[in-house]
Parts: sequence; C-alpha cells; structure tokens
Amino acid sequence: MLGQTILHRPKKSSGVPDVKASELLKPASRDEARLLDQLDTRRFPQHVAIIMDGNGRWAQRRHLPRVAGHRAGVRSAREVIETCARLRIQALTLYAFSLENWRRPPAEIDFLMRLLREYLRKELPVIHRNNIRLLVIGRPEQLPGEVQRDVERGMRQTAHNTGMRLAVALNYGGRAELVDAFNAILDRVRHNGLSTYRVDEETIADHLYTAGLPDPDLLIRTSGEMRLSNFLLWQIAYAEIHVTETLWPDFTRRQLLEALLDFQKRERRYGGLSVAEAAARGAGRARG
Ligand code: FPP
Repeated sequence: MLGQTILHRPKKSSGVPDVKASELLKPASRDEARLLDQLDTRRFPQHVAIIMDGNGRWAQRRHLPRVAGHRAGVRSAREVIETCARLRIQALTLYAFSLENWRRPPAEIDFLMRLLREYLRKELPVIHRNNIRLLVIGRPEQLPGEVQRDVERGMRQTAHNTGMRLAVALNYGGRAELVDAFNAILDRVRHNGLSTYRVDEETIADHLYTAGLPDPDLLIRTSGEMRLSNFLLWQIAYAEIHVTETLWPDFTRRQLLEALLDFQKRERRYGGLSVAEAAARGAGRARG
C-alpha cells in the first residue's frame, strides 16, 4: 500500500563527492557566489528536464517579432547546457519542438528549424569539446530532411562522449512516445511469438525514447504556466517541479542555480513517510 514505509530513492543522486559547487563553476556575480555556496554538490539532480516557455511573450514585451524571442532563447539554452555540464549533472533534456508546435504559422516553424540547424552548426564543436553526448528524442523522421541530417551528424559525432547527456526533444509528444513504445513492444511480442508475454514497468521504460537515461528528478518550467504540455509523461512520475515566472530568454545561470537550490530543499518521499515522521513512529514503537 502507498504511504506505509520509507522508500529509498529509486536511484542515487548524481553525487559529485567532496567538491564545492564554486570549484566547478566560477561565479559571475555575488548572487551566483551566494547560491553556489548554498548548493550541496552531492545532492544535485541526476536529470534536469526543462520546458522552455515564454519566448513569444519576451519578444512581445519588447515590441519585437516572436522569432526574436526564439533567438534570445538560444542564448539561455547555451548557458544552461554549459552550467549543467560544469556541475556534472548527468542528463539535461530541453523541450525544443513539440508535436503540437506544427500548429504555429509556417514562417515561425521555418525559423525554428533554421535556428536549430544554426545552433547545431555553431555549438556542436563546443558540445563535443565538453564531452557532452547529444541525443534527440521524439519523431525526428517527420522533420525536414536537412534538420534530420544535422541532428544525425551531431549524435554520431558525440556518440562516444562520456560526460553529460543532452537530450533535445524535437517533434516530441509524451503520449506519442508511449504509443511508439507500446507498438515497439507489440512488434517484439509478435515477432517472437510470445503469446503469454506480460508487460512490466521496466519493459515500458526500456522502449521509451529516453531508454538508458535516469528519470528526470527535477522538471523546470519557465513563464509561470502550471502545465506539463505532454512532456515526458511517464518519466516525471516522481520529479520535483519548479515553476518560475521568468520567461525563457531571461532564464540565466542564476535562475538555474535557484532551481537547483529549490530542489535541494524539497523532501523526496516517493510515497513513503518523511524522515521525521518515520523517526517518530520508530520512537513510538521502541517505547511501546
Ligand atoms: C516557447 O516559447 C519555446 C519554444 C517553442 C521552443 C523553442 C526554443 C528555443 C528556440 C530555445 C533554443 C533551444 C535549443 C535546443 C537550441 P513560446 O513561443 O511558446 O513562448 P510564448 O508562450 O510566450 O508564446
């Protein structure tokens, strides 16, 4: 039954032992230095997933076209990727283009695709130098051919990197991911004539686009919306959620450090009891 026992964390945190955060990252301001001092490198999330939202509003507030917001959003993405890699976070997933985003005006879609290609062309050497491995999750086969080729090249070039895994969700939908996983499982069952086969959680996780990655333990959403927007529906079952009013182009290293600190202040129970509650029950039993 839920809520009866303390469950151990399903997986250990990324745990960078005995290193101060300020040794991994040089603070660029007093605020950053203060935040870094408060962070415990042994308790960083293993996997940070981000719904980058608010590019359009950022541009609108400046009387700029929406695409200017997307261009500014690339700067934030670059800074967050670099920061997570330096902090030795194992995995970072960025929601860059959803299946629903095809409903936007063609000119905006075209701009987003070109921006992605430009980003890959400029940043791939940096990603590679930093030992980051690039992955794409979603249905990339439905993307324009040139985007598919650039993405494949990026994944091939970084395939042997052993540092942070950077998953870019492209043409991604959480329900579609589950549909694809179930169909892949059914194909295997039919192919191997496994008439008595029963599916379990591990098999489903192994057929998701994210197979091999730890589940996100921190989900960040910018621009204040309280929605999951069809993102990583299976994987975020136990994630802590950090929503900030900051619009994505204004989300810098400082906001990321604040989100990490917020994560470290949460008590993660996985349906069990808090440490204090369990201690009280234990003391009660010892007395009685
Ligand atoms: C949401 O803003 C953002 C997106 C549609 C994703 C695009 C993200 C980038 C361009 C950042 C760069 C990412 C990478 C991986 C290079 P919105 O247009 O929905 O904003 P709004 O809700 O204010 O309209």
